[in-house]
Amino acid sequence: MILYWPEQDESKKLLQEQAREFAKKEIAPHAAKFDQTGEFPVEVIRKLSDMGFMGMMVNEQYGGCGFDAVSYAIALEETAAACASTAVIMSVNNSLVCVPLETFGTEEQKREILIPLAQGKKLGCFALSEPGHGSDPAGLKCQATKVSGGYKINGTKNWITNGKEADYCILFATLDKTKGHKGICAFVVDTKTKGYQVAKIEDKLGITASSTAQLFFDDVFVPDNGLLGKEGQGLRIALSTLDGGRIGIAAQALGIARCAFDASKKFALEREQFGAPIAKLQAIQFYIAEMATEIQAARLLIWYAAKRKDMGLSYTKEAAMAKLKASEVAMWVTTKAIQVHGGYGYTKEYVVERNFRDAKVTEIYEGTSEIQKLVIAAQELGK
Ligand code: CAA
Repeated sequence: MILYWPEQDESKKLLQEQAREFAKKEIAPHAAKFDQTGEFPVEVIRKLSDMGFMGMMVNEQYGGCGFDAVSYAIALEETAAACASTAVIMSVNNSLVCVPLETFGTEEQKREILIPLAQGKKLGCFALSEPGHGSDPAGLKCQATKVSGGYKINGTKNWITNGKEADYCILFATLDKTKGHKGICAFVVDTKTKGYQVAKIEDKLGITASSTAQLFFDDVFVPDNGLLGKEGQGLRIALSTLDGGRIGIAAQALGIARCAFDASKKFALEREQFGAPIAKLQAIQFYIAEMATEIQAARLLIWYAAKRKDMGLSYTKEAAMAKLKASEVAMWVTTKAIQVHGGYGYTKEYVVERNFRDAKVTEIYEGTSEIQKLVIAAQELGK
């Protein structure tokens, strides 16, 4: 593939400027408060919806903006550079909810469910992981049983971003455990359905303004038209959806790293020790140089994976590489950013403390770093 460079593209440059301006004005000033209170950023999400950012890649006929994946990654980086919690709420609704609905949904599901989700009038979550099945979703236990007119669902789901606030849930359950992963189905569930329970909200290290819920499904009835795709297609729907989700989380990690990097440059130029700004010290210059290089390497991997998606090429491996690199860069950069800030960086007064806590989860959710390595190795070596 020839070298692709979104900065040559005027419309992407404009989107980046708009997203950056919006994030600076409307999101960043509230981010520390969201982090401290754990308050869901309702008003920010409403404004993001007005910008068209809650269903960015969805076709206009289904309430979206028809942006490509590169544009989506650019907008997410800007959002995450202001507030990582807001970015993951946006990422889950876009990549893990709107995309599978548009890809696998019926016309009726797209008209009734996708349109309000893409417009940001409703919010979605993606319920795959379970207490005993995080990295290994093929063995999930949540049980779907065929009943007259639909299915009854029973089971527990863990680590569900947006689980508390969601109006719709993309749920994965097995219809026949003896068929292994070929028994798994995907469903779209209205969270107001009797038996859908938010059992627990996790108390987390970072991304505190985004809810992470444990959900109970107690005889939840899903009508036949709530099946997403075909019976038995569920794991493939989940894993192909996660390929796109990983580009989103990589962009979130990149935004967190960039925020810490920008703060470090500012601090290094202002903070004086030994009679001069610490930016004059080679030790600090080396950190800044390494941070800049790592961030740019991650960004190029993200744009490359997104561009392959936009071109209709396979991108499973590239999305895994982008997420692996960007999340590890986020952890490394935020660690060094605290080092540049010294004692100040260890306090809540400086944004790098929040960046450090927010970065960690990007190495865990939507597939741990170790899972990304398995995906990359399987593509390189064959399974
Ligand atoms: N796209 C489409 N289909 C795929 C696929 C992909 N990327 N990868 C595999 N498949 C298909 C395979 O073709 C196979 O189907 P057939 O048998 O019909 O050919 C089926 O899926 C099973 O494939 P594997 O045998 O390769 O799968 P596996 O069980 O060995 O698992 C894995 C591979 C890489 C470990 C995978 O399970 C994985 O990615 N695990 C991590 C899951 C994960 O990311 N969880 C996070 C959940 S979301 C979240 O974090 C919560 C949130 O709210 C943010």
